Amino acid sequence: MIKKGIILAGGHGTRMSPLTKAVNKQLLPIYDKPLIYYPLSILMLAGIKDILIIVNKGQLSQFQKVLQNGKRFGIKIKYIEQLSPRGLPDAFILGEKFIGKDKVALVLGDNFFYGQSLTLKLKKCINLNSGCKILVHPVNNPELYGVATVNEKNKVISLKEKPKKSKSNLAITGLYFFDNKVIEYSKSLKPSKRKELEIVDLLNKYRKKNKLNAQFLGRGGAWLDTGSIEDFYKTSAFVSALENRQGLKIACLEEIALNYNWINKREIIQAIKFYGKCVYSSYLKKIIE
Ligand code: TTP
Repeated sequence: MIKKGIILAGGHGTRMSPLTKAVNKQLLPIYDKPLIYYPLSILMLAGIKDILIIVNKGQLSQFQKVLQNGKRFGIKIKYIEQLSPRGLPDAFILGEKFIGKDKVALVLGDNFFYGQSLTLKLKKCINLNSGCKILVHPVNNPELYGVATVNEKNKVISLKEKPKKSKSNLAITGLYFFDNKVIEYSKSLKPSKRKELEIVDLLNKYRKKNKLNAQFLGRGGAWLDTGSIEDFYKTSAFVSALENRQGLKIACLEEIALNYNWINKREIIQAIKFYGKCVYSSYLKKIIE
């Protein structure tokens, strides 16, 4: 069972400059809450309460201001600074002490997931015995992503980074589940031409040992990558449309915690005080009434 999770919330944010010159991408709004709420909600829905957030050097206090130590949501959040964006597998080198002898999930801070039976699928993933499990989803433009070919047993048989031509349209999303070997494997990686440790190289280590499995998000699921300004606004519009239609919030962290009995009414009242008079607080009031 995976009980620990890492959110990678640093990065260059080049594609979103100048918006990201002073503020980290993960703190910018996706409709009514900071982007980081969404990947954090994914780990929480999976049942993970022990979380490490990796942030850029100098930006730690900004994240702490909004998420604090996680007590508000009945979880434990630790932070660590990454001196420079050295690549995704750096998460496991920086997070070595946090991971200890356990297994771990990784979610990229700019990834958005939504869909029917998502929680059920996440629960399946955290039951990982050994190896690695990745979440895959079809896309229209596989040439922009890491792409996986998967056999009938859900084993990943090949991986290609941004292939010019590919038979598979299955993109590797930003949600991964690893056994403890991930630390050793990450340490053995060499930086690529762009001077980063590459996630595909890490996943290939598992694939070569026949230990890389895929979990499908399924047709009813949405995976949106919020890396570009265009995608950012599209994701905001998606959240706004769903929330206003249904009157239910996506990624309301206190609501998830309340449903899991990690917090009670008293903590929600404290959260309302923390947020002040706003739409988010009105929603919190509604769920305890
Ligand atoms: P990227 O897709 O590389 O995005 P980025 O934020 O660096 O932006 P850009 O490409 O526009 O320059 O990273 C995916 C996510 O992982 C993103 O949320 C930032 C985070 N990240 C880190 O925290 N540390 C890293 O070393 C890298 C490479 C990414």
